[in-house]
Amino acid sequence: MWRDSRLCERLGIEHPIIQAPMLGAVGPTLAAEVSKAGGLGSLACGDKGAEETEQLVARMRQLTDRPFNLNFWVHPGADAIPVPGALAAALSPWADRLGVGLPETWSAPARPFGPALAEAVADLRPAAVSFHFDLPDAERIATLKAAGIVILSSAHTVASARKQVAAGVDVIIAQGWEAGGHRGAPGVTQPMDGVGTMALVPQVVDAVGVPVVAAGGIGDGRGIAAAIMLGAAGVQMGTAFLRCPESDLSDAARARLAVAADTDTAFTRAFTGGTARGLRSAYASDLARADDFVPTFPGMLGLSGPLLAAAGARGDDGLRYQLYGQAAALSRAMPAGDLVTALVAEARALMQR
Ligand SMILES: Cc1cc2nc3c(=O)[nH]c(=O)nc-3n(C[C@H](O)[C@H](O)[C@H](O)COP(=O)(O)O)c2cc1C
Repeated sequence: MWRDSRLCERLGIEHPIIQAPMLGAVGPTLAAEVSKAGGLGSLACGDKGAEETEQLVARMRQLTDRPFNLNFWVHPGADAIPVPGALAAALSPWADRLGVGLPETWSAPARPFGPALAEAVADLRPAAVSFHFDLPDAERIATLKAAGIVILSSAHTVASARKQVAAGVDVIIAQGWEAGGHRGAPGVTQPMDGVGTMALVPQVVDAVGVPVVAAGGIGDGRGIAAAIMLGAAGVQMGTAFLRCPESDLSDAARARLAVAADTDTAFTRAFTGGTARGLRSAYASDLARADDFVPTFPGMLGLSGPLLAAAGARGDDGLRYQLYGQAAALSRAMPAGDLVTALVAEARALMQR
């Protein structure tokens, strides 16, 4: 029924539905339910080293023996440089409002996905490894592939997809403009320059010979069937899983999603420095005027971190960091395994018509 069976065959899964890795939002409990239901559960290891990754995998394997995906972030970190005056001016009113001091410099460690981590992951032998933000060196990709691991990576332009396939990526996740969370690859920096899922998927399918997974704005079986018709071999869904009882979301975040609307979200660099789609906030609108001075991902976290902690403690909604996509209103508060089963039934009914 899935037309292009390459993804299921290569990953050893029943349904080509990948639960998106979402750092801080989902863990092994949710991912295991997705894998048990025949999809591909993903563990977000974006900020994890070898030891923490091994612990997550051990937990996952206690819960299921089905295939799963490990997701890593690759980025060069951020150097400690002084906060530009224009940025300090935009941040100061928020620091005053929340009663916190602003750091004078910031820095963040690089995440290169180096040799030690690559070897450790190869030993763990997950069915798949996906990369976000960028790719590691060719040798690390070779290490994983030699262990029989399928490599996935997010691209949000045709050029980026081509480049990644040339670098050895086995499956491209075509991430459209609608997607919640951070853009998964370098290339487009201006938020308004992104390509929507409907336009992106068939163009990436035409451009690369490898299986393409559609991501961004897919909220139910209609979206899955549409993605398959566009030539995708499968889908990666993030926002749709956020309201599952197994997710790690706070009650406040769940309540917000329960009343989500199509126009809730916008892109901002104000929290991490990376272009990310999430709930609109007064802070993000305010910081837009200093966007030229906002450090690149993940440097801005050093500056927004203290503000976020203070806002969280006070329940100040002006500075709320909640990432989700444009199809959030389609999301359902139901167990992750049941959701996968429902999504498959919906897509199947449409495709068999
Ligand atoms: C809360 C949240 C956190 C995310 N974190 C990650 C992450 O750690 N790694 C990753 O590869 N993608 C991450 N993403 C992006 C997803 O992989 C995917 O591209 C996106 O969820 C698809 O769009 P959708 O949310 O409309 O389904 C995140 C998305 C959300 C909503």
